[in-house]
Amino acid sequence: MASLRLGDTAPDFEQDSSEGPIRFHQWLGDSWGVLFSHPADFTPVCTTELGLTAKLKDEFARRNVKVIALSVDPVDSHRKWIGDINTTQNTVVNFPILADADRKVSELYDLIHPNASTTATVRSLFVIDPQKKIRLTITYPASTGRNFDEILRVIDSLQLTEYHSVATPGNWKDGDDVVIVPSLQDPEVIRQKFPKGYRAVTSYLRLTPQPNKA
Ligand code: BEZ
Repeated sequence: MASLRLGDTAPDFEQDSSEGPIRFHQWLGDSWGVLFSHPADFTPVCTTELGLTAKLKDEFARRNVKVIALSVDPVDSHRKWIGDINTTQNTVVNFPILADADRKVSELYDLIHPNASTTATVRSLFVIDPQKKIRLTITYPASTGRNFDEILRVIDSLQLTEYHSVATPGNWKDGDDVVIVPSLQDPEVIRQKFPKGYRAVTSYLRLTPQPNKA
């Protein structure tokens, strides 16, 4: 399978998980989704990442995002490891971990990069929208844990674009001004969409207060 690209449909699959068999598209339903892979169970960086993800349960729920992890370890290994994560990270893992022992999903999502490792999945992450389109792909090396605050920040940006026709500037943080998308040119539509007004720094850089903030 060639690498998945932004805008591609996230491949559907059926696979076993720590919470039983999952049909991916059906499991996603109308939610946004985050699918992320990690190299292996019982490894240190992965333990912290899955603990962090569990602690962000309310943040993902508030954004209508379902989260699912994956490695090529079997279900019984996942279940034992979840006990370790809960104890050491002081949380309760509240999302499924796909048990991709037959590498079905790893092949569909190109998660094994043979020049990095022939056996373990890389640290990839996909954000998937409710139409099942891939909206973000990132791949980190095994030794670098991902920044889950950044994942939430990107989801916020994607949802602002999707629902409010704005883009987010470099280093944007929640609450900062945002950018009216260049495709929006009709002054009447702009006036209706952005009642707080906007500031044109140039004809193409138009800043407006974040629309979903009071
Ligand atoms: C890990 O925790 O997954 C890991 C840590 C160092 C190197 C490779 C993997």
